[in-house]
Amino acid sequence: MNKSISLLKNEEATVETGRRLVRELNLSNELVFLNGDLGSGKTTLVRGILRSWGYDGPVKSPTYTLLEPYELADCRVLHFDFYRINDPEELLYIGIDDLLGEEAIKLVEWPSNGSSILPKPDIEIFLEAGDSSKPNYRSLEVIDHRRT
Ligand SMILES: Nc1ncnc2c1ncn2[C@@H]1O[C@H](COP(=O)(O)OP(=O)(O)OP(=O)(O)O)[C@@H](O)[C@H]1O
Ligand SMILES: [Mg+2]
Repeated sequence: MNKSISLLKNEEATVETGRRLVRELNLSNELVFLNGDLGSGKTTLVRGILRSWGYDGPVKSPTYTLLEPYELADCRVLHFDFYRINDPEELLYIGIDDLLGEEAIKLVEWPSNGSSILPKPDIEIFLEAGDSSKPNYRSLEVIDHRRT
């Protein structure tokens, strides 16, 4: 297991970190959990990951659609957001097993809402935002379970 922690001083740093993670973690076909409270920067990090593959369009939060797929020239990215999932069984209705079996980078916001159904991730990311006294503070922790 490999663990690293960094501080992100603004939104741009979060985007840049997404780009860096693609290079450093050599992402291509992994299941990545994005943990962190509302507004901690998960979707912003996804934007950076997509930018690194040359995608420069909008990155919508799939809060209502559950999934936003990106078919890029060199890579497929499946961006999930399970914030609105009340019962993990709901994931079976969207065919989660088939989706997770696809050749793509699978990025999952709010994985805790599907924890009894989802397999163990290859990589876990924990984002934390500061309170009102430190509104711009973000910390990011990455745990790479592929490295034992
Ligand atoms: N390092 C940072 N410092 C300050 N603000 C940031 C930082 N990273 C992201 N933000 C800002 O935080 C806000 C929320 O970001 P984002 O939508 O990515 O959060 P989220 O974790 O996806 O939230 P949700 O759980 O609602 O999906 C955005 O306005 C974004 O610009
Ligand atoms: Mg989000």
